[in-house]
Amino acid sequence: MQFFVDTADVGEIKALTETGMLDGVTTNPSLIMKAGRPMLDVIAEIADLVEGPVSAEVTATEADQMVAEGEKLAGIAPNIAVKLPLTWDGLKACRRLTGDGHMVNVTLCFSAAQALLAAKAGATFISPFIGRLDDIGLDGMKLIEDIRAIYDNYEDLETQILAASVRTVDHVQQAAIAGADVATLPPAVLSKLIEHPLTDKGLAQFLTDWKKTGQSIL
Ligand code: E4P
Repeated sequence: MQFFVDTADVGEIKALTETGMLDGVTTNPSLIMKAGRPMLDVIAEIADLVEGPVSAEVTATEADQMVAEGEKLAGIAPNIAVKLPLTWDGLKACRRLTGDGHMVNVTLCFSAAQALLAAKAGATFISPFIGRLDDIGLDGMKLIEDIRAIYDNYEDLETQILAASVRTVDHVQQAAIAGADVATLPPAVLSKLIEHPLTDKGLAQFLTDWKKTGQSIL
């Protein structure tokens, strides 16, 4: 499973690259607003820091305009994935942009039928939003499972499942079990993946006992 980080904070991304676990980045207009900096500068800096796909979202709602914005964003760096909303115009733009060789991440997916449409439109990634479905009392993980089952039924569908709106470590584990290709994680969740109290306790015990031996390896 690949790990992307869901943030437009360049400092956070820089720190996470040091873990060696970062395979890409996703952003959206809300995250750009939170970063409080010009989008094109932020995307260029992120694309320079990370080798893998960096999703940059269009804000037009009509297909021709989406394609124009998408081409501009894709022109920033070769690793940009143009992010398009799951609308008919978004799917039209998806077909055109992927046809021209650009990566496309179709976002705001809340049903398996939508994911099927995105795959038929040639999307590189489909982003089902787990947390936002859980928020309204539905089962976000079931959506990942359903999309996996559908995509696996058809060899010609090559779209990667990018589990989005991830809120917890358990979401990451369950999405991996369900066969998501990628998960995009808030930085805090990515940092938490390593945590287990028994790891800390076990290490403390090993170090205490080692000290008692009076030895040193170097
Ligand atoms: C995905 O690409 C989205 O940016 C993101 O995962 C949305 O997450 P949220 O529901 O926590 O805003």
